Amino acid sequence: MDTADVQGDLEDILLTPEQISTRIAEIAREIESDLEGETPLLVGVLRGAVMVMADLSRELRLPLEMDWMAVSSYGNDHKSSGVVKILKDLDTAMEGRHVLIVEDIVDSGLTLSWLLENFRSRGAQSLRVMTLLRKPDAMTVDVPLDYVGFDIPNKFVVGYGLDYANRYRSLTSVAVLKPEVYGGNPPE
Ligand code: XMP
Ligand code: MG
Repeated sequence: MDTADVQGDLEDILLTPEQISTRIAEIAREIESDLEGETPLLVGVLRGAVMVMADLSRELRLPLEMDWMAVSSYGNDHKSSGVVKILKDLDTAMEGRHVLIVEDIVDSGLTLSWLLENFRSRGAQSLRVMTLLRKPDAMTVDVPLDYVGFDIPNKFVVGYGLDYANRYRSLTSVAVLKPEVYGGNPPE
């Protein structure tokens, strides 16, 4: 869906489809050189990472496999608590694999920090993280990120997989949602 269709709900377009695809191609070249000769397992975190997974995986000139996880974070006061529940686990064994976690956004970093801890016990040969977006001003834990698409301001954004109330995921851009759309506290 084009951003023009929901222009009234959006404050700012942060990233255009062209900026996103250019950056994803750059990151794909880095990943290719880091994982040359390997067949990595890409693990997408549902549901926000669907678009970045689709574009990154098709850009990569590497044989690869894809799998998905769904997690929910128990929040307090609209903030991620770092206590995470696995709603859907991987169908693929990680043992001996080069694993690349593909994320849409790292906000506080708590969800990813938990996920990394969980993954570390599963015997992967290597574990890397790619996130399209990072909010440096919101991060409360230091999480090692291997590939970061863009640093963005600490504002609630939607589009390119990211939602508010499960809407706006199909926007081709990443945009700041007008606070009056959600009213009060920024949602999770
Ligand atoms: P933490 O704080 O654990 O949270 O790094 C990561 C998860 O929070 C959601 N999130 C957002 N979703 N726009 C969204 O649509 C945002 O600006 C935003 N910030 C955080 C998202 O589900 C992410 O995986
Ligand atoms: Mg969400």
